[in-house]
Amino acid sequence: MNYRHSYHAGNFADVLKHIILARCLTHLKAKDTPFRVIDTHAGIGFYDLKGEAASKTGEWHDGIGRVLKADMPPSVRELLGPFLDAVKALQAFKGRDTYPGSPELSRQMTRAEDRMIFVEKHPQDARKLAENFNFDGRAKILELDGYTALKACVPPKERRGIVLIDPPYEERDEFSTMVQAFAAAYRKWPTGMYLLWYPVKNFEETKRFLVDLAEAGIPKILRAELRVKRMSSTGGLSGTGMIIVNPPWRLSDELEKLMPWLDALLKQDDGHGWNVDWIAGETISKGF
Ligand SMILES: C[S@@+](CC[C@H](N)C(=O)[O-])C[C@H]1O[C@@H](n2cnc3c(N)ncnc32)[C@H](O)[C@@H]1O
Repeated sequence: MNYRHSYHAGNFADVLKHIILARCLTHLKAKDTPFRVIDTHAGIGFYDLKGEAASKTGEWHDGIGRVLKADMPPSVRELLGPFLDAVKALQAFKGRDTYPGSPELSRQMTRAEDRMIFVEKHPQDARKLAENFNFDGRAKILELDGYTALKACVPPKERRGIVLIDPPYEERDEFSTMVQAFAAAYRKWPTGMYLLWYPVKNFEETKRFLVDLAEAGIPKILRAELRVKRMSSTGGLSGTGMIIVNPPWRLSDELEKLMPWLDALLKQDDGHGWNVDWIAGETISKGF
């Protein structure tokens, strides 16, 4: 396990992932009944953007750095509001060079009656995660394999909630491991909302993943993909995608508003572009 998220925190992929997570949490809170967040690959919770790791790559400058400096039309500002409020609340508390990971966003955007499970396999990061969140009695921190934990944690007793699966894709077969683990969890808890992150690096790999999902017999799968640059032959990250299973009903319209703005803001060369489409269900749209 070589991957450490502190090198990449706040980059363009984090920004899209966290904006979508924040929209989903906002919609979940629209109902009074409690819900649970299950974050299978949680990282350490929040990050120091001026720390050694983040400074080494500087990736956040082309992600959250651009977002925080941007002018936004009111419609975008309204949709980004909960995400930006969480970023600013963390910065007010921990310093203006910090950035929230998915656990911190979940912690801030949940209520007294909601619960969270944060899973992290890397022993050092799991320890840091526990240090950062043990104070909150609503959160359970597990040092475990995220896929094993997922199997054991669904369905949650609340029967409402969200699963975020955000692996580092260090393993060659991560795409198929993820689809299998997700599909098994879905069979146990078909009404949960699931967010699956994927990297855009290799066209064939992404296509195979999307076809596998489309053929999994799951009725409602939305995808949002943002490409910021041309795909490189060396396999670097050229784009980022999120799969949203059982999305809140307004999410696809919201993403249709947000994605062109994010595309214009985060593009790095003329290979940029975006899609919001149904992989399964609603109006199946695309030839991916
Ligand atoms: C992309 S980062 C997570 C970022 C986090 N979700 C966020 O948005 O702030 C992926 C994390 O998964 C951890 N990891 C890798 N393999 C894992 C596994 N099998 N189970 C759980 N965590 C794992 C890595 O140590 C890393 O911290």
